[in-house]
Amino acid sequence: MRLPRVLLLAVASVIVLATSAACAAPEISVAAPDRGTIGISLPTTKSERWLSDGRGMEQQFELLGYKTDLQYAEDDVKGQISQIQGMIDNRVRALVIGSVDGGALKDVLASAATAGIPVIAYDRLIRDTPDVDYYATFDNFKVGVLQARYIVEALGLPEARGPFTIELFAGSPDDNNADFFFDGSMSVLRPYLRSRKLRVVSGETSFRRVATLRWDGAVAKTRMQRLLAGPLADERLDAVLSPYDGLSRGILEALVADRRRLPIITGQDAELDSVKLIAAGKQSETVYKDTRELAKVAVQMANSLLTGGTPEVNDTKQYDNGVKVVPAFLLQPVDVDRTNYRRVLVDGGYFTADQLAG
Ligand code: GAL
Repeated sequence: MRLPRVLLLAVASVIVLATSAACAAPEISVAAPDRGTIGISLPTTKSERWLSDGRGMEQQFELLGYKTDLQYAEDDVKGQISQIQGMIDNRVRALVIGSVDGGALKDVLASAATAGIPVIAYDRLIRDTPDVDYYATFDNFKVGVLQARYIVEALGLPEARGPFTIELFAGSPDDNNADFFFDGSMSVLRPYLRSRKLRVVSGETSFRRVATLRWDGAVAKTRMQRLLAGPLADERLDAVLSPYDGLSRGILEALVADRRRLPIITGQDAELDSVKLIAAGKQSETVYKDTRELAKVAVQMANSLLTGGTPEVNDTKQYDNGVKVVPAFLLQPVDVDRTNYRRVLVDGGYFTADQLAG
């Protein structure tokens, strides 16, 4: 029987899609097989990036024939534990977890292990448990290095006489990434702080002092307001190290309300609202992490575990979770500012030009 050309093309494109999305898929068929459900638990819908992580994983798992149960914990630690327990009770085949509190999942993951459910830590390391199999993330130390290097270059620090003033912000203390970002940044800034070319007027320099619980922009804004009204009242502020766009926007609001000349200010995640601020010359930089790629890595890891393969990793040293070193695949972050945001984000298909204009 001769099949019509249109149908042949449709069948061929399904096969191409299925193979390109899943090199490790054991079989290729036109009707996707039912491979069971994957539980995906992510921290919050309040930040746009986690929405796109969720969408990306749903689409890619579905292409491979899996159903998905995607739930958001809205930054509630206990809520996330009971969502995960519910997924275990419903016998999901694997769990992909972006944790709210990376140290709080020990017991629920013990119950996943008893049920034989593999666990992939998504973006954030899950700590203090043997029951996490793989970790899909970015080079988190490098994120911090990129942010700090941006500040160093923008201020012309190697040559300039200074001194310049800077304030430091860090992420959530229950997120392992926050330490990595801060350590990466400090590895670049420390020599300039020691030589006093850079001065932290508030004196608040330790991770604990500058951390921002749950990455909450309102908390960062309040801290910036306190600094502006107190130690910075009569000081110029040249730079702010901010590890995440949601914090950067809160900090900028405080600065604008205080009618300050805007300092160099960093960020992370290339969130749409921040990219617009970069285009407008208000936020200086963001570190772009392509969540489509991260979703792909996690999906490949889960699929390969469920089909008898071994997930590909490229780091088996850095991510000690307190019980074991979790094998990881690290993607590369990209520095974005006013000079390259169109090329990287629009030409790269992350945003449309219309989204940035709107
Ligand atoms: C981190 C993540 C960052 C940012 C932040 C706040 O764990 O690596 O990219 O999204 O959380 O959500």
